Amino acid sequence: MQFKHLSLAALAAGASAQTMNLTAALTSSPDLTNLTSYVSLFPELLTQLSMATNVTILAPSNAAFAAFLNSSAGAAIKSNDTAAIQAILMYHVLNGTHPAASIMSTPAFIPTMLTNMMYTNVTGGQVVEAVTQGTNVEIYSGLLMNSTVTTPNVNFTGGVIHIINRVLTVPQNISFTATQAGLSAAAGALTRANLVNTLDSAKDVTVFAPNNAAFQAIGSATANLTMMELASILEYHVVNGTVGYSSTLRNGTMLTSMSGMNLTVTVSNGSVFVNSAKVVIPDVLVANGVVHVIDNVLNPNNTSAKPVATASTQSVAFPGATSARDNPLTSGVPSPTGSVGMAPTPAGGAGSRSSSSSGAAMPMKTGAIGAAALFAGAGVWLNN
Ligand SMILES: *[C@@H]1O[C@H](CO)[C@@H](O)[C@H](O)[C@H]1NC(C)=O
Ligand SMILES: *[C@@H]1O[C@H](CO)[C@@H](O)[C@H](O)[C@H]1NC(C)=O
Ligand SMILES: *[C@@H]1O[C@H](CO)[C@@H](O)[C@H](O)[C@H]1NC(C)=O
Ligand SMILES: *[C@@H]1O[C@H](CO)[C@@H](O)[C@H](O)[C@H]1NC(C)=O
Ligand SMILES: *[C@@H]1O[C@H](CO)[C@@H](O)[C@H](O)[C@H]1NC(C)=O
Ligand SMILES: *[C@@H]1O[C@H](CO)[C@@H](O)[C@H](O)[C@H]1NC(C)=O
Ligand SMILES: *[C@@H]1O[C@H](CO)[C@@H](O)[C@H](O)[C@H]1NC(C)=O
Ligand SMILES: *[C@@H]1O[C@H](CO)[C@@H](O)[C@H](O)[C@H]1NC(C)=O
Ligand SMILES: *[C@@H]1O[C@H](CO)[C@@H](O)[C@H](O)[C@H]1NC(C)=O
Ligand SMILES: *[C@@H]1O[C@H](CO)[C@@H](O)[C@H](O)[C@H]1NC(C)=O
Ligand SMILES: *[C@@H]1O[C@H](CO)[C@@H](O)[C@H](O)[C@H]1NC(C)=O
Ligand SMILES: *[C@@H]1O[C@H](CO)[C@@H](O)[C@H](O)[C@H]1NC(C)=O
Repeated sequence: MQFKHLSLAALAAGASAQTMNLTAALTSSPDLTNLTSYVSLFPELLTQLSMATNVTILAPSNAAFAAFLNSSAGAAIKSNDTAAIQAILMYHVLNGTHPAASIMSTPAFIPTMLTNMMYTNVTGGQVVEAVTQGTNVEIYSGLLMNSTVTTPNVNFTGGVIHIINRVLTVPQNISFTATQAGLSAAAGALTRANLVNTLDSAKDVTVFAPNNAAFQAIGSATANLTMMELASILEYHVVNGTVGYSSTLRNGTMLTSMSGMNLTVTVSNGSVFVNSAKVVIPDVLVANGVVHVIDNVLNPNNTSAKPVATASTQSVAFPGATSARDNPLTSGVPSPTGSVGMAPTPAGGAGSRSSSSSGAAMPMKTGAIGAAALFAGAGVWLNN
């Protein structure tokens, strides 16, 4: 009698400690039925996922899935573009087991299983940004889209699942991202300097992208630049071979730009500067690295420009330059050509994030028209 009693207890204890396999974990959550039935259409993918160990799966809820299907990005799914579907799903699988408690208020950039070169040129896998904001765990993906973890820590044999409220956006190429973000002067300058393909096809880059107000402020200096001069200025804004997420940039870090000249990072009171330009929107993930939006155009002939960290705006790095009403660089902005997971027309809007002090040209709107709205304010002067 006693023996039987004991074994039942032991069995019960064993059962509750038993970790579910992936299928069981997905099926156990009523909020994942859409994802589950969708993934079941791809038995090979499901097998691959079931065998994965030490991963974190960001699983879109039913509502997230429905919103995604209704978005332009959902087109890949509707047209059964298997490579695109696989890319989107793999972007939701993070390398390593990351319980919610391990995600901090300092952003972490966690590699995913998205490694297909058709969709990313970030070595080691495209990343997501995971960060705790207030009581929420937020995941930032392409075009600064944020997804919130709604149910954390569903354990399964291969790691942990967090349920999220929006399908992640696979980071897009630099030119598409710049255009979507309303960085029309930067996008126009790249086109004019014939650097779009060079940049979009590079691997592992960090781009410091001046906002429109920054280009406007040196309008007199950009007015008559030759293509070569413009290209050398722009190449000074690109670091080839290093993806420098903001939380990895340290005070005094020297970065060698594509033009061969060095850039100096200053970190002061939580603000990040490159030379004398302040990073006003950090960590916009792109297909081949990261873009930081800055408030000043960098000058390769003025590599020693230093910020005045306490000032709300920095002086321009082009001595004597004055601002222009019109920006000649905005002509020829390319039409966006995205690949997959483009920003869904967001019902809930993109998250907003900026460094602490925002100048007049720093639009920090939330909730309207997605990433474009986040950046678009600085473009208003163009229509004057
Ligand atoms: C997962 O677990 C369920 C229930 O325990 C079981 O029926 C199923 O066969 C398992 N699947 C795999 C792939 O092991
Ligand atoms: C998605 O989930 C909702 C709620 O569970 C359900 O009503 C709907 O039929 C599901 N759709 C698909 C395509 O599975
Ligand atoms: C996509 O795949 C689903 C499921 O296999 C199928 O029902 C549907 O007809 C396919 N659609 C297209 C456009 O091929
Ligand atoms: C996961 O990351 C580790 C290093 O942290 C690396 O060795 C491993 O290859 C990665 N796994 C995959 C599947 O990318
Ligand atoms: C799980 O993955 C993380 C990140 O790649 C790695 O640091 C860790 O050592 C891995 N743990 C195990 C048990 O493989
Ligand atoms: C990655 O680089 C290759 C070769 O340069 C290029 O063909 C491919 O389009 C790039 N991928 C993306 C997503 O930009
Ligand atoms: C999930 O796994 C972690 C260890 O990885 C453990 O601390 C936690 O208690 C588990 N949660 C549940 C609900 O079993
Ligand atoms: C640029 O060129 C125009 C016409 O060639 C000229 O009028 C203007 O003064 C030049 N601007 C500068 C800053 O050199
Ligand atoms: C970036 O660096 C790699 C390796 O050093 C080189 O092959 C490539 O041409 C560089 N790309 C650009 C755009 O400078
Ligand atoms: C950052 O580095 C500069 C020199 O590059 C130094 O003057 C400054 O004190 C440093 N700031 C901090 C906070 O360490
Ligand atoms: C650029 O910085 C590196 C150190 O990161 C240094 O070795 C190199 O000499 C510097 N180049 C120039 C042109 O200052
Ligand atoms: C994105 O973040 C903002 C706040 O920063 C929040 O209001 C919004 O609900 C988040 N979006 C999603 C889809 O979770």
